[in-house]
Amino acid sequence: MLQNIPTPTILIDRDRLHQNIKRMQNVCTRHSVQLWPHIKTHKMLEVARMQLDAGAAGLCCAKLGEAEVMVESGVRSIFLAHSLVDPLQAPRISALAERLDALILAVTSEAQADALERVLSAANLKLPIMAGCDTGLGREGARGVEGALRLVKKVQSLPHMVLKGIYTHEGHSYSSPTGNYLDTAKLVYRQMMEIKSQIDEDIEVWPGCSVTAAWMAQQEGITAVRPGTYVFGDLSLTVTNLIMQWEDLAATILATVVDRPDVKLALLDAGSKCFTSDKTPLGLSGSLLDGRDIHVTKLSEEHGWVTGSEVNQLKIGERVRVVPAHVCPVINLTDEVVVISGDCVVDRWKVAARGKVQ
Ligand SMILES: Cc1ncc(COP(=O)(O)O)c(C=O)c1O
Repeated sequence: MLQNIPTPTILIDRDRLHQNIKRMQNVCTRHSVQLWPHIKTHKMLEVARMQLDAGAAGLCCAKLGEAEVMVESGVRSIFLAHSLVDPLQAPRISALAERLDALILAVTSEAQADALERVLSAANLKLPIMAGCDTGLGREGARGVEGALRLVKKVQSLPHMVLKGIYTHEGHSYSSPTGNYLDTAKLVYRQMMEIKSQIDEDIEVWPGCSVTAAWMAQQEGITAVRPGTYVFGDLSLTVTNLIMQWEDLAATILATVVDRPDVKLALLDAGSKCFTSDKTPLGLSGSLLDGRDIHVTKLSEEHGWVTGSEVNQLKIGERVRVVPAHVCPVINLTDEVVVISGDCVVDRWKVAARGKVQ
């Protein structure tokens, strides 16, 4: 029972997780689009296996260290969606490639392509490459159609690379300027299709974001999507972007009310070391799962400051389940999660790729 679990603890609702995985997979399968879930959200072998069992074509990782852990899930294909440049990583890339059927790497600029070429040459590997295109986030990837065409040509010119397709991370759809994520998704789609049409009709097109994934999977010409956060959901996907339902939320922080310093404030035993510094645009670090108007609005390292019109209902010693603003970094701060079905504890899972930032 939840009453016997020390707090703060991350709870994973197994049934909701399963439904979230199934729902995304079903959309992809129905439209013959591959699903390559990004494991940065969960970092757990058990969740990766659920995704693969449901039909995921492969896994997407950011870091080599994450991929090295994820191999244990039985995955055969991994896309490393990060700008690799360090020759020190050559032996690890080699060893990883040997354990997989397919290791796909990212090229994110012409200069990075040169650096990666040196790494691949040192590793004596010729690998499939996805060319990164910036579609508005402004992080990695070629700028504009011209930039993308130059980047693709660069990949095609390098002896240790084989162009597989183009990819983007449309993370800016979390804060679409019009307030409607579809406007951003349509723009991203048009940009990717324009690039594709100028390169080769056969190359693959891989957008990747939980906000747009289900819509993208239904569009002509998209070959794969790479959402990550959809497995658990958070305030960003439910309240800010209305992509998931409140009833889909699969990850919460179980915390205890440890003090009530005044009528308008309660303190939780979970602070920034649980919630991280990520907040919603309204400044919330978390909201109570039970729907009461009670929110975590400020954090110290070990205290969550809780306010809201119903905060006076909270009692010292009461346990609350809090939905975090952004779930991915929250999971990365815990060694283990408690898995529940309803109110019953059914398992404990290690966050196996926790902290694997190298
Ligand atoms: C390269 C890349 N692909 C896919 C994703 C998954 O996006 P989301 O967090 O919206 O699920 C991310 C998220 O940061 C990313 O950086």
